Amino acid sequence: MPQVTNLADKIEKRLPGELVGFIKQAGKVAAGREEAIYLVGGAVRDLLLDKTNLDIDLAVEGDAIALAGELIKDKDGKITIHRQFSTAKISWHKWRIDIATARRESYSRPGALPTVKPGSLKDDLFRRDFTINAMAVAFNPQVYGHLIDPYSGQKDLRQGLIRVFHEKSFIDDSTRIWRGLRYEQRLDFQLEAATLSLLKRGIAMLDTISGDRIRYELECILQEELPEKVFRRAGELGVLKRLNPSLDDDGWLAKKYSDARQVSLPHKPPPDLYMALLTYHLADKEREQFISYLRLPKSITQTLRDSGSIRAKLKELTDAKTKPSSIYHLLYRYSPQAITTGIIAGDSPIACRNIKLYLDKLRFAKPLLSGNDLIEMGIPPGPQIKEILNKLLDAKLDGRAKTREDEEGMVGEWRKG
Ligand code: CTP
Repeated sequence: MPQVTNLADKIEKRLPGELVGFIKQAGKVAAGREEAIYLVGGAVRDLLLDKTNLDIDLAVEGDAIALAGELIKDKDGKITIHRQFSTAKISWHKWRIDIATARRESYSRPGALPTVKPGSLKDDLFRRDFTINAMAVAFNPQVYGHLIDPYSGQKDLRQGLIRVFHEKSFIDDSTRIWRGLRYEQRLDFQLEAATLSLLKRGIAMLDTISGDRIRYELECILQEELPEKVFRRAGELGVLKRLNPSLDDDGWLAKKYSDARQVSLPHKPPPDLYMALLTYHLADKEREQFISYLRLPKSITQTLRDSGSIRAKLKELTDAKTKPSSIYHLLYRYSPQAITTGIIAGDSPIACRNIKLYLDKLRFAKPLLSGNDLIEMGIPPGPQIKEILNKLLDAKLDGRAKTREDEEGMVGEWRKG
């Protein structure tokens, strides 16, 4: 990767015309206000890597909220303002842009959210997690496209290194541990030697971070192309155990995540499927600890619990003689996501076949006769209608009733008996 000092060409190549137009306009408006506006963070890193990243973060040396207000004025869009952080989010058409006043940050205690004061661009870059995420591109007309790289981020990008700025980085904000592993594995980089040892020393500090923030980091990992690489590295360094002491990665996850991607094609696996596989071997109590620590949303919680319940039924599902109606009754309460987890995680081919049979076929089965048909046949309305329908469903699932006549015959027999 050659040394680059101006990114104007890369911006033209990587960003859609509408965004390039916006950026140039933003530079002009900022200059008119005697302010300066920059692209910062991951989008700069990705421009240098020749990757498209439409997650646009802008930093302003000046008043970000007032500038954002001017930029959205002639657009049919929306602005959301956070005065206490001096940030604004503007959105129009399909674009979303974050604009923040350049700032300095300090931490009152490990794991706390930072205290924020306005600062220079250099301060704003220094407060960031890693040097590769601490570069900026100027947008004001006189300097349009210039790369600002006071901390040698480009050099680290070329050498494939993830490097923090100072010794307390992982202590101030231990979410950077997960972030560091995520970038390292996504980009096939390495944690620079001193950074790696600081990271190891900071692992215990992960306990200072709220479950909500850790959950956010996990959600980001599950959006990666290959989340298992991050978990493998986290397992190796003892980071995974901070989520739950019983979590381990012995290579099982890699195979299962790859299966999950196959099963989910053409989409990405949903996060709850990935999460259920991550926690698959936890005991009930450990799973509940994991759920409450991360304050997982209801739907994911349900998939995790259901996956545990299905795992507890694997013995019956592994028996080739288990009847289809029994398979149905073992599984009908659970969400398709948890059942898919069971197929992927279950290492028994018979259990997989049985679960698949349920998912593809059994769950859609219905008797041919309806409740009304039964009433017309003279069965009095009441709970016995439901009971008969259930018996008819079992007969259908097990192949004892194939036609409407079969079902009518069975109902006739049951009435006699
Ligand atoms: N950042 C940071 N420390 C954090 C979170 C974010 O320093 N704990 C900074 C980094 O400079 C990062 C930027 O804020 O680049 C934007 O954050 P985010 O959107 O999370 O990061 P991206 O680099 O855009 O990440 P990704 O490529 O994963 O979207």
